[in-house]
Amino acid sequence: MFLRPADPVGLVWRPITRNDLDEVSALLTAIELVDQPTERHSVAELGQTYEETDADTAHNSLVGRDAAGTVVAYGWNHPISSDISPRRVFLAGGVHPDHRGRGIGRALLEWQLERGRHWYRATLQDDFGSLQLTAYVDETLSAQRRLYERAGLSPLRWYADMTLELGGALPDVQVPAGVRIVPFNRKYSEAVRQAHNEAFAELWGAQPVDAVRWEQQLAHSSARPQWSWVALDGRTSEVVGYAINSSYEQDSAARGVSEGWTDRIGVRPGWRGRGIANALLCASMRSFADAGLAAAGLGVDSDSPSGALRLYRRLGYEATETLVMYARTEDIAADG
Ligand SMILES: CC(C)(COP(=O)(O)OP(=O)(O)OC[C@H]1O[C@@H](n2cnc3c(N)ncnc32)[C@H](O)[C@@H]1OP(=O)(O)O)[C@@H](O)C(=O)NCCC(=O)NCCS
Repeated sequence: MFLRPADPVGLVWRPITRNDLDEVSALLTAIELVDQPTERHSVAELGQTYEETDADTAHNSLVGRDAAGTVVAYGWNHPISSDISPRRVFLAGGVHPDHRGRGIGRALLEWQLERGRHWYRATLQDDFGSLQLTAYVDETLSAQRRLYERAGLSPLRWYADMTLELGGALPDVQVPAGVRIVPFNRKYSEAVRQAHNEAFAELWGAQPVDAVRWEQQLAHSSARPQWSWVALDGRTSEVVGYAINSSYEQDSAARGVSEGWTDRIGVRPGWRGRGIANALLCASMRSFADAGLAAAGLGVDSDSPSGALRLYRRLGYEATETLVMYARTEDIAADG
């Protein structure tokens, strides 16, 4: 494995340390000003990502500094160690707008792909599937998309962000017979995680979320368990559905609208088609409105056969931006 990107500019590359996070944040601010991506960073989230169990930033990340010592590029791989098949590595990175078109991004991405392969080989077990190198990008960012395509990543999936204004009268929460809709509470967390893994088991690209990642995500600064809802079997109190909500204030600020965000919604297979998701979304809207927010948002796989898109449209959600998932799948031997 090569230790640094072969960039033609000769930047000085080092793994990201905690002390670099403010400078990485400044770089991201400069990038976001020009690119106007749907998803923005926050300093708090950078810190949390840095602390995550899988992070290993000493091996999975780099910042590139110019001769003056200014951070002008970064690359950060996020491998999911609990994945079985495929073994996913999410690629994040960026080059300062003033330093683009000089081969930095291309060299950095090559390093990230190579680093992903290295992680894959180092962690390989008999029952593991292929390596999947994955990146998400706004549909409108054509230079970044070209970069991925040149590196052999293909556009596989399109995710629509959808939003609904909460200004008017909110729909009633119509609770289906035999079900109770209750506020999310820590005591349901593990049962909700299991319901989530069951609800998503058949969905394209989904893999079980393990308890560590689940709890980390619920502890994120953006998580809003207090605006989240659980559907219980009225008889046994078993968890049958859930809506886990968040607040991405930096994204809302960029869009100029305060929005509550439904991160995860699912209903266990045996309980579908009776209005449970409908009720969970209506309850979420009420939580957002009570918190003084102006809109409710969520993201949906545009090609999902689950009928989710139709359900959201019926409730009044409208599509806004689109994110494209790029990926490259590789079969690599342990000693390859
Ligand atoms: C998508 C998903 C959450 C929907 O859950 P659900 O509880 O079956 O959804 P609902 O019952 O509220 O709505 C589904 C359909 O049943 C209808 N329905 C049936 N009885 C209803 C009732 N009493 N009240 C309201 N709607 C009812 C809805 O109108 C809707 O019809 P449509 O398909 O024509 O739009 C569920 O299929 C799921 O968990 N899928 C896997 C995970 C997933 O895709 N999550 C979304 C990711 S973006």
